[in-house]
Amino acid sequence: MRAHEAGALHADINHRGPSWLREPRDVNALVPLLWSSTAHKDDGVLHVGGLALPDLVADVNTPAYVLDEDDFRARARAFRDAFAGYDVYYAGKAFLCTTVARWVAEEGLCLDVCSDGELTVALRGGVDPARIGYHGNNKSPMELRRAVDAGVGRIIVDSFAEIERLAATTAELGRTQGVMVRVTAGVEAHTHEFIATAHEDQKFGFSISSGDALEAVRRVHAAAGLDLCGLHSHIGSQIFDTSGFEVAARRVLALHAQVSSEVGVEMPEMDLGGGFGIAYTTQDDPSDPAQLATEMTKIVEHECKALGIPEPHLSIEPGRAIVGPAMCTVYTVGTVKTVELDGGAVRTYVSVDGGMSDNIRTALYDADYSCTLASRASDAASLLSRVVGKHCESGDIVVKDEFLPGDVAPGDLLAVPATGAYCRSMASNYNHALRPPVVAVRDGVARVVVRRETEDDLLATDMGELRSEAE
Ligand code: LLP
Repeated sequence: MRAHEAGALHADINHRGPSWLREPRDVNALVPLLWSSTAHKDDGVLHVGGLALPDLVADVNTPAYVLDEDDFRARARAFRDAFAGYDVYYAGKAFLCTTVARWVAEEGLCLDVCSDGELTVALRGGVDPARIGYHGNNKSPMELRRAVDAGVGRIIVDSFAEIERLAATTAELGRTQGVMVRVTAGVEAHTHEFIATAHEDQKFGFSISSGDALEAVRRVHAAAGLDLCGLHSHIGSQIFDTSGFEVAARRVLALHAQVSSEVGVEMPEMDLGGGFGIAYTTQDDPSDPAQLATEMTKIVEHECKALGIPEPHLSIEPGRAIVGPAMCTVYTVGTVKTVELDGGAVRTYVSVDGGMSDNIRTALYDADYSCTLASRASDAASLLSRVVGKHCESGDIVVKDEFLPGDVAPGDLLAVPATGAYCRSMASNYNHALRPPVVAVRDGVARVVVRRETEDDLLATDMGELRSEAE
């Protein structure tokens, strides 16, 4: 790719859009697969959770994340029911607030956290600590202490140093701690390299092939205050092809059997991680939880039979597949600009009042999104457009390519579906943007579950001149 100071995205000038993007027959219509279950249009106006989005944003303003509570709960239940007999840990890193933590617990799921902050929110949300799993490749001694002290059900250890630290912590507190060992199965998951986690050259886990994983298991088993529960494998995120899970499960189960024969320990559990892909655009074709459960269960049954070992109690950790499709982001259009490209073609830039501060995924992973005009129906012909934010860089793109009505104009609302996972949770204050609220909607009632930041929030950590003068 041609190098350019604006980065690779800039070099990829293709004004016809990507090959998978088809011009829709009706540019006003929603593609149901991309939207939460209660989303529909009425005379061009998008409704979610029984509320018309123009009415909703009249109260909360834009940009705003709109969280469809029924849809979230239904997806959580679908995983719980499809994976009956497993424990389903919702991966809070995708999106977590105290309300969502409570929904997760009410729907009978466990919760995966990976930082002290996520643990705080989970506990505040009333999640039983025994149903929390704690991840991370560099948990601090303070974080470990707090997790043990809180009574977290399992800590997933990721390094030899951590095993030592955790053993010291449990000795000091006089506690026994459930532990899983994060292993690296050496699988090349077919996803963006930043979110693939089971190949050898990355920071997570103990390698199975190098022998480190077996050694970690021995050390956990030998440590007085650590209760070895089992192995943990997570191969990456936004994965559609179950063959990656299959190879990983085979390697992890082989290690599980080896632990039984060589270390003489029957580990009761095994976690196969999360990473199940969702539809962001029409090019994505995700499996539903029932299909995933059938395939994963078959793989484990088959391998355990071949190895002659009893099946461990299994768990999984979906994040994106539960919250991703349950949320959309609503923006207001501020400007529409036509730019002439090399060769005389034009590109239409539709600027909205958010951008890479509320959705970094397009810039960071070259992710594709879709969007729709949310505030009215249009008779205009569709026009291939690029939706961009208001930040000070040209890589600030929300939706790289989408057909929108050709008369989209300032004041119109645009909605981007499938923004529930890793958008609010990775949001920033870049350019001192105020992070948008999350508004839960259900049966015609809206509830702000995370409020919009204010300028006071921005200045709360600023210890400079103005603050000290005011004091
Ligand atoms: N379990 C573990 C150990 C994980 O590291 C993750 C995600 C999950 C479960 C949940 O994966 P999910 O089902 O949500 O795909 N920021 C990136 C994704 C990073 C994923 C980190 N770990 C993105 O926006 O695509």
